[in-house]
Amino acid sequence: MKAVRKAVLPVAGLGTRVLPGSKTTPKELLNVVDRPILSYIVEEAREAGIEHLVFVTGRGKAAIEDYFDHHIELEAQLEAKGKTEMLAAIRAELPRPGEMSFVRQMRPLGLGHAVWCARDIVGDEPFAVLLPDVIIDAAPGGLKQLVDAYGKVGGNLISVEEVAPSETDKYGIVDPLSRDGDLVKMKGMVEKPKPEAAPSTLSITGRYILQPEIFPLLAEQGRGAGGEIQLTDGMARLMERQDFHAQVYAGVSYDCGDKIGLLRANVALALKRPDLGDAARAAVEALLRG
Ligand code: G1P
Repeated sequence: MKAVRKAVLPVAGLGTRVLPGSKTTPKELLNVVDRPILSYIVEEAREAGIEHLVFVTGRGKAAIEDYFDHHIELEAQLEAKGKTEMLAAIRAELPRPGEMSFVRQMRPLGLGHAVWCARDIVGDEPFAVLLPDVIIDAAPGGLKQLVDAYGKVGGNLISVEEVAPSETDKYGIVDPLSRDGDLVKMKGMVEKPKPEAAPSTLSITGRYILQPEIFPLLAEQGRGAGGEIQLTDGMARLMERQDFHAQVYAGVSYDCGDKIGLLRANVALALKRPDLGDAARAAVEALLRG
């Protein structure tokens, strides 16, 4: 079984749900507490053993490349002022030379098309996909849990969680065949079904491990839900030939592409921070008291 060394991060999305904040700042760089959403996602990928990150970017996303590069003036200023802790934190996130690639999705044709844009860099090996909208708060991290499950069952895997029956039309939904603990063998999946048509309430959370045979399927994938080329539809076809498991991961997810999800992430992760938790709790309680 080949190890999962590469991860694809589709970061070309327009972020329409968090406008106007995402008009000139990529939504992936909006802050949660004191660092960008993307910083949490990259940390999760590295923890899972990922050695190479492929960002699928688009117009207006150049700040993402700059974020993962030296900022010479800033670093010099921090050094001159003796802010060594902040300087170390900023440098710790920087990639090893060559650890990151950036490829452009030139038209917003959907998640399946975005992943397909990474095919030449991924090549002929299994790879992970992390949707950068979703922060997963978990230990071990969401992708690490999936990589561990991959070590046992191989094939293709996705992270899932339970959603309310009325919410199925916001997510990809799994059609389960059988369940063994946190692992669900799948027989199908469907993108954003109406509640009455949903095969279950297990929703795709935004972490995937896929075999490279997905790429030729995505190349010829027609438009699906929302008029977009859907990754879910490509996976449903790959499932006719290869094994797919869903893992009900242990942890909490925050949809940071959504106003309330972003707010929840900020509050929840501030409350958990050893350096900020007490102050965050006092601030939230004062607000609730009115
Ligand atoms: C995407 C996927 C969907 C998944 C969701 C998770 O949808 O297509 O299957 O459940 O992310 O956030 P999007 O939110 O990009 O419409």
